[in-house]
Amino acid sequence: AASLFESGVLAGQRVVITAGPTQEPLDPVRYISNHSSGKMGYALARAAIEAGAHVDLVSGPVALTAPDRVQLHRVTTAKEMLDACMNLVNDCDIFIGCAAVADYRPVTAAEQKIKKSEEEMSLQLVRNPDVLAQITNCSPKPFSVGFAAETEKLREHAIGKLERKNLDMIVANDVSDSSIGFNSENNAALLLWQNADGDGELNIEQCSKDVLASMVVAQISAIQQRKR
Ligand code: CTP
Ligand code: CA
Repeated sequence: AASLFESGVLAGQRVVITAGPTQEPLDPVRYISNHSSGKMGYALARAAIEAGAHVDLVSGPVALTAPDRVQLHRVTTAKEMLDACMNLVNDCDIFIGCAAVADYRPVTAAEQKIKKSEEEMSLQLVRNPDVLAQITNCSPKPFSVGFAAETEKLREHAIGKLERKNLDMIVANDVSDSSIGFNSENNAALLLWQNADGDGELNIEQCSKDVLASMVVAQISAIQQRKR
């Protein structure tokens, strides 16, 4: 097994993966969050381990067990996720942002449970830092992969994120199809990349998240080889 491990396509590489949702507290008993089972991120961690990589998995709260040999870093909020990732970026060859990070957090988290009063109430929210965008601002910048979950204009929105966040590759998911994504065992994706050789894409039909993860890892390795 050891020789198989050392001969994988990511042998000797350090991979950091974010997974799951973040939770942004409103008071001691409430939070705002996103739908995310963490299954895709954990499948990627497993695939990267199988490819011989050293894997740090920075995970929001999920009901999953980390794969063997993975270094698990548990976080709750987007800010905690950012701190954990920034502590790992210096030794990181490949960064995969698979987490469903909450875009906003409550301006303050109340110390005591908020009591109900009026018929209507509103929350004041403030933008969270963009973990992936901060990672791609670092130098040296790891080979960076993002995810884009979209309900419309999949390609257009994904290409926008690829360029805006200075990514090497993006994995775009159509989340308007409820048979895939979120809590499902299956997923489908459109992979888009940009590098010195030009742009490319690969459409992956619905398959298990484990199969999709292996294909994403294989594609990362293929593009990264060309870059070197
Ligand atoms: N991401 C992140 N930190 C954030 C928001 C997003 O690291 N605060 C990462 C996600 O992990 C994903 C990519 O950025 O890899 C795209 O996330 P997505 O929510 O699709 O895009 P946003 O840039 O947040 O734009 P929007 O939600 O408005 O579509
Ligand atoms: Ca978002």
